[in-house]
Amino acid sequence: MPLNRKARTWLTESYAGDVTFEEPMANHTSFKVGGPADALVRPKKRDDLVRLVRWASEHGITYMPIGAGSNILVRDSGIRGIVILLDGCLQAIAEKNPASGHPVVVAGAGVKLPALCAYALKHGFKGFNFILGIPGTVGGGLRVNAGAGGRSMGDVVETVGLLMPGGSIRTLQKTDLHFSYRNLDLPPELTTEPGSTPIILEADFCLKQAGKPGIRQEARQILKLRNAHQPWTAPSAGCIFKNPVGNRSAGQLIDMAGLKGKRIGDAQVSPKHANFIVNRGQATAGDILALMDLIRTSVYERYRIKLEAEVRIVG
Ligand code: EPU
Repeated sequence: MPLNRKARTWLTESYAGDVTFEEPMANHTSFKVGGPADALVRPKKRDDLVRLVRWASEHGITYMPIGAGSNILVRDSGIRGIVILLDGCLQAIAEKNPASGHPVVVAGAGVKLPALCAYALKHGFKGFNFILGIPGTVGGGLRVNAGAGGRSMGDVVETVGLLMPGGSIRTLQKTDLHFSYRNLDLPPELTTEPGSTPIILEADFCLKQAGKPGIRQEARQILKLRNAHQPWTAPSAGCIFKNPVGNRSAGQLIDMAGLKGKRIGDAQVSPKHANFIVNRGQATAGDILALMDLIRTSVYERYRIKLEAEVRIVG
């Protein structure tokens, strides 16, 4: 159901100061593109989030949670319904069984992945370094099974707490979570209602106690490599295509097709790493989608390999 006047009034009265209407998603995505969301709510507390989800489900209003907006491409037409921005709540990080030698870290979905890495480094916990430099949140990172260097979020997670559309809370064990390359499938019986997906609230991660100097040295090395090979200073959504099956990566194929530096409007194939599209200023989602099409066609014509988007296209 679209957002009618009554719904807008309820949102304004219930979330004064934390709701905006016709909000450009360009303000909330790392690509710095995207048309308006009908409404964008940034709940301050977990209870505010639960109340919002319950109300939206009861009224058949679709909602979409977003974390850091770092792996999505929002179309220029924007998003109908409510975008729920989770970077204002679900911020807690704590250790569950201190001094056991088998640390379990519980982190809220809104915690930024760099903050989680910093926590682990400070406490001498090994196991999170692979996500260093990935600019997402715990919730977003789990949904896309973010990873690097052959490891991903699914390797370290133990349990996930979910907020269901009706407002109830469920805890899923690792065995219920089906992680694959850059994807997490929840059990199908939990995802039957279109437009109102369960929202990840928090997760437990299983780490190892280790010497601080060793993991700090490893962290420095990982960040050095990322900064040397990937264009993290320009707006982007990280790698744009998944690596295809086979021994050549998407970046390698796009590079070999001669597309480094190729531009449509202000969207450009990064001259530093060909599997990144960067926004050189005023790119639109249309520019980026056109460039993705051109890349897909060129790579298919040359190598008969179909590239699949890694970035989630929404709106
Ligand atoms: N390469 C080129 N040209 C390029 C880019 C890469 O020839 O323009 C070559 C490299 O020389 C290398 C190979 O392609 O031989 C693979 O490149 P790289 O090591 O950069 O890794 P990748 O497969 O492109 C993956 C992840 C990254 C992650 C890195 C490092 C995917 C789609 N990408 O990139 O994740 O940071 O490994 O572990 O799985 C992301 O998911 O957003 C992301 C950036």
